[in-house]
Amino acid sequence: MSETTRQTETTDTERPTETTAGETDERVREEWREYEFAGDPKLAVEDLDVYYGDDHALKGVSMEIPENSVTALIGPSGCGKSTYLRCLNRMNDRVKSARIEGSVKLDGREIYQDGVNLVELRKRVGMVFQSPNPFPKSIRENISYGPEKHGDIDTGLLARLLGRSDEDEREELVERCLRDAALWDEVSDRLDDNALGLSGGQQQRLCIARCLSVDPEVILMDEPASALDPIATSKIEDLIDQLSEHYTVVIVTHNMQQAARISDQTAVFLTGGELVEYGETDQVFEDPRSRRVEDYITGKFG
Ligand SMILES: Nc1ncnc2c1ncn2[C@@H]1O[C@H](COP(=O)(O)OP(=O)(O)OP(=O)(O)O)[C@@H](O)[C@H]1O
Ligand SMILES: [Mg+2]
Repeated sequence: MSETTRQTETTDTERPTETTAGETDERVREEWREYEFAGDPKLAVEDLDVYYGDDHALKGVSMEIPENSVTALIGPSGCGKSTYLRCLNRMNDRVKSARIEGSVKLDGREIYQDGVNLVELRKRVGMVFQSPNPFPKSIRENISYGPEKHGDIDTGLLARLLGRSDEDEREELVERCLRDAALWDEVSDRLDDNALGLSGGQQQRLCIARCLSVDPEVILMDEPASALDPIATSKIEDLIDQLSEHYTVVIVTHNMQQAARISDQTAVFLTGGELVEYGETDQVFEDPRSRRVEDYITGKFG
């Protein structure tokens, strides 16, 4: 890279408020705040601020997430992607130093208000983490544990009259979730084996199956494929594509090609906890409005 190019880059990043069309960042913000899609938003976030003690980790984030689609969150390390994701099912409540201000609505109902049942919320808004974290139990029990705890495996009188037992119900659920997570064919003959004996990619699909077992509406994924090899990663990507037919998927990824491949819309967070641009994935990657986002996507910083 020539010295001249390098100098141009420096000048660009020194004009952080300029858009690719020479307007202000404020103008970009107005545009994505008005980002439109068909139907009502599944999640609507408004003026969300998160503090860890005195550290202001997320600043005034507003964003609407459409139903049954994949939304990618990208941005450099420490910009607040995981923090944002955890706000969507109130996981940050578990962090003692965290203070959250603003509004998050799920199907139009505020989740940050008194009286919200957090167990129910996290059932509707499930989460898959970066490192696969199956329970040290059998593959079968990993799937049936949640529904059993929530009392969802209960055949009811009619089913019992028809000769179906709780056991039948459970087996059907285990198979359905493992099939939906594209894992059934690999584990159907060893459901009683310990889940920790599976490969990393299989463990991650098991965690997705476990997440599906409690019948969620939204699935939050925090870098679900970052610890996996390319083949396991591509399986997870195919799976995410299928899941988005029935679920609203919000995924954090450091892999920009992955975000471009699998998501319908992309939100770019930049250092300082700001959401800088949000819109249809093709537009964000091919024709970003913010100069800073363009620099980030083309690898000039971040
Ligand atoms: N539990 C916590 N306690 C205190 N500070 C935290 C906590 N979690 C995150 N932070 C701080 O909040 C900011 C945002 O962190 P966050 O983990 O959300 O970033 P991220 O975008 O997910 O980064 P990465 O890409 O590295 O995972 C960082 O400055 C981080 O140090
Ligand atoms: Mg993170």
